Amino acid sequence: MLKIDLKGKVAFIAGVADDQGYGWAIAKALAEAGARIIVGTWPPALKIFKTALEMGKYDESRKLSNGELMEIESIYPLDAVYDDMDSVPAEILENKRYKGIDPFAIAEVAERIKKDYGEIDVLVHSLANGPEVKNDLLETSRQGYLAAMSASAYSFVSILRHFGPIMPAGSATVSLTYLASERVIPGYGGGMSSAKAALESDTRTLAWEAGQKWKVRVNTISAGALASRAAKAIGFIDKMKLYADKNAPLNKDLHAMEVGNTAAFLLSDLASAISGTTIYVDNGLHAMGVAIDSPTLV
Ligand SMILES: NC(=O)c1ccc[n+]([C@@H]2O[C@H](COP(=O)([O-])OP(=O)(O)OC[C@H]3O[C@@H](n4cnc5c(N)ncnc54)[C@H](O)[C@@H]3O)[C@@H](O)[C@H]2O)c1
Repeated sequence: MLKIDLKGKVAFIAGVADDQGYGWAIAKALAEAGARIIVGTWPPALKIFKTALEMGKYDESRKLSNGELMEIESIYPLDAVYDDMDSVPAEILENKRYKGIDPFAIAEVAERIKKDYGEIDVLVHSLANGPEVKNDLLETSRQGYLAAMSASAYSFVSILRHFGPIMPAGSATVSLTYLASERVIPGYGGGMSSAKAALESDTRTLAWEAGQKWKVRVNTISAGALASRAAKAIGFIDKMKLYADKNAPLNKDLHAMEVGNTAAFLLSDLASAISGTTIYVDNGLHAMGVAIDSPTLV
């Protein structure tokens, strides 16, 4: 029987802070395939995530098909806008949400993971941030635009640069992108659409570079709307979900695990010849040219 087998592989998922987002669903699918799960969590969300996990708040969503609970072996604080601890500004180091925690910049997290695990076989980038996401692009400041680019696109370049050397030949990475990179989604502002366009373009360039350098594959999943914590912050996610349910070819709800399962496939040897690609997991919405529920069509 053909099956996704990641038994014993170490999977690092950057961008997990609750059980609602795509990072969690990908972790779960990877755990179903036998991978060992370690995650990177944004420092401001770290304490609340660890406490909720310890208190059993996520036990229901940790349940795997064999009845066992997904184990998260290690949680590393990670702020992906900093390449190394020397570049972290003093006011962040002094901030109470960052004070007293382990080094959280990308280089130091990669070092710690190398020390703890030696290598990783799977790398997932499931994080994004755009402080001005509610602003139209025309109303986005330079600072807000660059912040969206830094957290949501450059973060992947830097993470791959630091983790590539500890990824064996044949291992793979996946990031998460969104249709707003190539089609207009009014309301997805603050430079986030630009950041996703950069992430998709970088997926191709990095597939070439990481393929040559380490024989590591690089792909991105263009996921449909999901009411995650990050998406709720944008404000119109419920409408986007409803729109997708009505207008996508498959006319059904999109489940986070459908993205998780696709990621597990892309990160496994079954996808050994796939690199540099954007894979749509959106019930087919990206293929539509008209909204079939538009009043002008009915
Ligand atoms: N929810 C959607 O509708 C949707 C659609 C397509 C793509 N995506 C993408 O999926 C990915 C995961 O997002 P999600 O919607 O599942 O929400 P989520 O809230 O589960 O994940 C976003 C994560 O990013 C983390 N984060 C923010 N800034 C960070 C930083 N500087 N360093 C490290 N971590 C940071 C947050 O703490 C959070 O855990 C993102 O790239 C997002 O753009 C989401």
